Amino acid sequence: MKAVRIHEYGGPEKLKYEDAPRPEPAPDEVLIKVYASGVNPIDWKIREGSHKEKFPGNLPLTLGWDVSGVVEEAGKEVKNLKTGDEVYSRPDPTRNGTYAEYVTVKAGQVAKKPKSIDHIKAAAVPLAGLTAWQALFEHGKLQAGQKVLIHAASGGVGTYAVQFAKWKGAYVIGTTSEKNISLVKDLGADEVIDYKKEKFEDRLKDLDLVLDTIGGETQKRSFKVLKNGGRLVTTVKPEGNEDAKARNIVIAGFMAQSYPADLEQMAALIDQGKVRPVIAKVFPLEQAAAAEELSEHGHVAGKIVLRVVED
Ligand SMILES: NC(=O)c1ccc[n+]([C@@H]2O[C@H](COP(=O)([O-])OP(=O)(O)OC[C@H]3O[C@@H](n4cnc5c(N)ncnc54)[C@H](OP(=O)(O)O)[C@@H]3O)[C@@H](O)[C@H]2O)c1
Repeated sequence: MKAVRIHEYGGPEKLKYEDAPRPEPAPDEVLIKVYASGVNPIDWKIREGSHKEKFPGNLPLTLGWDVSGVVEEAGKEVKNLKTGDEVYSRPDPTRNGTYAEYVTVKAGQVAKKPKSIDHIKAAAVPLAGLTAWQALFEHGKLQAGQKVLIHAASGGVGTYAVQFAKWKGAYVIGTTSEKNISLVKDLGADEVIDYKKEKFEDRLKDLDLVLDTIGGETQKRSFKVLKNGGRLVTTVKPEGNEDAKARNIVIAGFMAQSYPADLEQMAALIDQGKVRPVIAKVFPLEQAAAAEELSEHGHVAGKIVLRVVED
């Protein structure tokens, strides 16, 4: 099969579109024929070798951990999925990924894809969607009527977080830059702050939750806008400071998990028309390097997807 792999860590030039062995499913796995693969910052972080301790994949390594496709074969212990099922998943990032014609995934990390959208859009959901969902509801404990600040509301995670938080009945404030303000409002944000023109801490206070996908200074300044006992959930490194400690702010860093129940819930919201993926750009599989370069630039609105099969 064709796959995009690295044989050593480094820049986008290390990505090789080449022949690779087609994987065989273990008894508790499914072999998925990949129709589309999402592209996420973790892809180029792993490619660069900066996450070697957390994600010690074996070289050569196929990148990409976001898939929509069709079950080609189910291992003999798999009860809930069968050949021909249209599925989506965020496979385990310590294993070979989804920039390939086929990938094997534990059946317990796979769910039926949303029926109302194609594979390109469905491949844009699992990793970023699960992250937004678990950040808001599992770690952030967000409730209807609460106020949440979502940083990078135009990003992969942010575009889902705005929609999920609105669906829950929260008051949603998002940060982005001027070119994406109308997108973030359209996704449902009640207020949008242009981070290049205004300091969010000058406008906001007493919030229940901040979802931080930026880290560093943005994270530190975010403690100022939370109420006493509020929560900051971060998808990057949790840092904390004296201000946060003094005001009993709960800081949670986490790694999103591929829980089928969360994938099913997101699929239901998409099929009910309550949530939609935002697609920034679609590349063919062989142009994975260009796709990662665009992601690494850090200013994409929505998701980048690799097309593996014409749908
Ligand atoms: N822990 C986990 O399980 C997990 C899961 C998913 C992602 N992550 C991490 O979370 C981070 C975000 O991921 P992502 O996929 O959402 O990234 P992304 O899609 O690449 O984010 C791009 C967006 O960020 C906005 N942005 C950039 N700088 C900003 C700032 N200072 N303030 C507000 N918005 C800003 C950009 O808007 P403009 O173009 O307008 O600047 C752009 O729309 C990454 O570091 C990723 O590795 C972690």
